[in-house]
Amino acid sequence: MHPSRILITGVTGQLGREFLDYTKTNRDITWRLLGPEELNITNPVAVQEEVAKFKPDVFINCAAYTAVDNAEEEFEAAENVNHHAVRTMAESCKEVGAKFVHISTDYVFNGKAEDQKKYPEGYPEDAPVDPVNKYGLSKLNGEKAIQDSGSDYLIIRVSWLCGKYGHNFVKSMLKHGAERDELKVVNDQFGSPTYTADLVDATFKILNARESGIYHISSSGMITWHEFATEIISSAGLKAKVTPITSDQWPMKAKRPFFSKLNNGKFEKKFKTKYDWKSGLRKLLDEIT
Ligand SMILES: NC(=O)c1ccc[n+]([C@@H]2O[C@H](COP(=O)([O-])OP(=O)(O)OC[C@H]3O[C@@H](n4cnc5c(N)ncnc54)[C@H](OP(=O)(O)O)[C@@H]3O)[C@@H](O)[C@H]2O)c1
Repeated sequence: MHPSRILITGVTGQLGREFLDYTKTNRDITWRLLGPEELNITNPVAVQEEVAKFKPDVFINCAAYTAVDNAEEEFEAAENVNHHAVRTMAESCKEVGAKFVHISTDYVFNGKAEDQKKYPEGYPEDAPVDPVNKYGLSKLNGEKAIQDSGSDYLIIRVSWLCGKYGHNFVKSMLKHGAERDELKVVNDQFGSPTYTADLVDATFKILNARESGIYHISSSGMITWHEFATEIISSAGLKAKVTPITSDQWPMKAKRPFFSKLNNGKFEKKFKTKYDWKSGLRKLLDEIT
């Protein structure tokens, strides 16, 4: 049986807006679509009341604290949204028997260079977690709270999220590539993008199959940010030179994992679906350029 009543939070964000587009194509489902003004997920009473009143059979949380660098100094704010609020949502779902769908991140992993040798296809769902920054820690704490809540849950870890809405790497490369002659981009961090349209597709494939647990969803293949930028600039017909640099040459407040490729094997085998990073990029560029 497919879900029939779905509540989605954070519908004003990059991913939330992609889900919002999907809801317009599917009228068989009764949707409850809430941005931060309608539901502040850090208000436990509001969350409990909303869930008790609407009684969703699936609750998809797209709301998150995503300011990776600021989280180093605002850990409490990150924890409130990515951990404590997530616990309340998962517990509220348990109360009404709803499945809780939550989006997590490659940043739950350590990403040290040795792990690339250990996991040549990327981190599998059951690889040991060990975040290197506060944002990653708050997301991991959220995952643990969900697992402790006793709810039926689906945690989808994604990496390098890019879509037509909001801010992301593809959009900043297009912007800077049009304004500058040269872009310097790190070439020692390895991973793979997750396109928001692919993530929505994957989420409903998993939901319709009534699967639970943890799934990794990203594009197949492994690239560096520099390779990704080079493809973005050339596919968009821009002339800027893309120069490789090391992470040391681009210091940021929060440490980044060097290796954050997610292994999608579990999803790819079960659903016979692969998302290719170059064709995902072409589709995205068609939509935004
Ligand atoms: N972006 C990436 O590269 C990446 C990578 C891996 C995983 N992820 C995960 O993917 C998910 C979606 O990310 P995204 O890129 O769509 O993030 P986003 O664009 O920053 O959207 C997050 C949304 O959450 C809302 N929000 C924040 N605090 C809230 C609160 N207290 N109550 C209700 N809503 C609140 C934000 O509203 P305001 O803007 O008004 O605050 C925003 O609409 C997140 O779980 C993120 O951790 C992202």
